[in-house]
Amino acid sequence: YKRVTVKSLTEMKANNEKISMLTAYDYTMAKIVDGAGVDVILVGDSASNVMAGHETTLPITLDQMIYHASSVVRGIDRALVVVDLPFGSYQSDPKEALRSSIRIMKESGGHAVKLEGGKEVKDSIKRILHAGIPVMGHLGLTPQSIYKFGTYTVRAKEEEEAKKLKEDALMLQKAGCFAIVLEKVPANLAREVAEKLTIPVIGIGAGNGVDGQVLVTHDMLGMTHEFNPRFLRRYLDLYTEMTSAFKQYVDDVKSVDFPNEDEQY
Ligand code: KIV
Ligand code: NA
Repeated sequence: YKRVTVKSLTEMKANNEKISMLTAYDYTMAKIVDGAGVDVILVGDSASNVMAGHETTLPITLDQMIYHASSVVRGIDRALVVVDLPFGSYQSDPKEALRSSIRIMKESGGHAVKLEGGKEVKDSIKRILHAGIPVMGHLGLTPQSIYKFGTYTVRAKEEEEAKKLKEDALMLQKAGCFAIVLEKVPANLAREVAEKLTIPVIGIGAGNGVDGQVLVTHDMLGMTHEFNPRFLRRYLDLYTEMTSAFKQYVDDVKSVDFPNEDEQY
């Protein structure tokens, strides 16, 4: 396999090849996702919800993100590994943002960082880039600001917010981001942004006019069955499959069906 780099992603956009991206938080999952040919693996702060059971992404710490990211990096041969800067690790000032990014790069071996927001984080992005660390932006529904929004509904439906999003997207490109994620925004707006930018726009709930798609792996595998947004396509129903496997195991243990003659020493 030829390794995916931030440069190959730009080339993919120029060649009209869509970019596939999924999350992973651990070695075993990362190895499967990478082996299947997914281009970008995101160590998302959605680990706060999916791995730790928190209601929001706010509680996860930089140390915890580094633990997840280092596990993921050990599982991959080809994919580009992007690591979310968690809430509170970059908002105070650009120096803090750089320090957090350096810790991620040194201690996890990840290849790039991602952070949420537009012009508010411009100086931090520049500072991180000056150190040679690639940065992915994230606009639209930015879950670290959930208490400002109040809900997880579609963003930028009104003209004013759409206008700010377009300005922010251009700013992120100009500042030097290698790609941006657009989360839960109208498809027409996302298409317009993707057409305007030369860097790839990766969508989640942003329609098919963008340059690539990202989903949370546990959601697309159907492990999380309480979460049902319209944009989520489920490729498996693992919640049901796993439940029946676990039930079968319980039955087999109780009935002394397991282990049998061949499964013992
Ligand atoms: O944390 C995450 O999983 C993300 C994706 C949904 C883009 O940021
Ligand atoms: Na995230």
